[in-house]
Amino acid sequence: MEVIIAKDYDTLSKQAAMLLASQVISQPGSVLGLATGSTPVGAYKNLVAFYNEGIVDFSRAIVFNLDEYYGVAPENPCSYRWFMEDNLFKHINIRQENTHIPNGLARDTAAECREYEEKIRRAGGIDLQLLGIGGNGHIGFNEPGDSFKSATHLVELDSGTIAANSRFFASRDEVPRQAISMGIKSIMAARRIILLASGAGKAKAVYEMVQGPVTPEHPASVLQLHPQVIIILDQEAASLLPPRA
Ligand code: PGA
Repeated sequence: MEVIIAKDYDTLSKQAAMLLASQVISQPGSVLGLATGSTPVGAYKNLVAFYNEGIVDFSRAIVFNLDEYYGVAPENPCSYRWFMEDNLFKHINIRQENTHIPNGLARDTAAECREYEEKIRRAGGIDLQLLGIGGNGHIGFNEPGDSFKSATHLVELDSGTIAANSRFFASRDEVPRQAISMGIKSIMAARRIILLASGAGKAKAVYEMVQGPVTPEHPASVLQLHPQVIIILDQEAASLLPPRA
């Protein structure tokens, strides 16, 4: 695990965007795994800027998002499809058919999950997966206690996640209770992983991920077992880590 401590959120965002952009520059047909949430917003802004400057071309890139709320339509502004269109897709030249997000309206969720995995497999697997981390240590929507062996599946959101994500909804009652999420197994199959964390609210989760035991009770700790992980933190998110050489 390579841990980078950036001086602030802007620097973290630029560093993440540079790593994502270099992946696509060096391999234009790259398969990226992308994440939603507040943390990657700055990285996406920088990617859009790189695209506008002609530095990176997304015309051959393929993306798979980690998750989508169950029961939420793509045209709902609270959906992750909407989030990705709004923050990234509509600002760059990625082809619509190369953007993949689980279908939150799937009636047969087991079939949707199987097909999602199959699409990732047919695309050649994920070259670079971007992750955030929940205050409870979740990655994607793999909540504490979820099996490390799970592929894409329907998950029950943890009460902490519902509380944290209620800021995006009119009220806590409107936050969906379920989501379709890539599993830990799907995430760990990515060839390279970048995880971003910003702010003091993530410090404990970051400490557990880097220093704690590898346990499903702290899903992000599984990343200790992945050979190619870069963790980019701001000072606050890194504040509980022991000083590094
Ligand atoms: P955040 O979410 O970026 O909005 O903090 C991260 C997560 O829950 O994985």
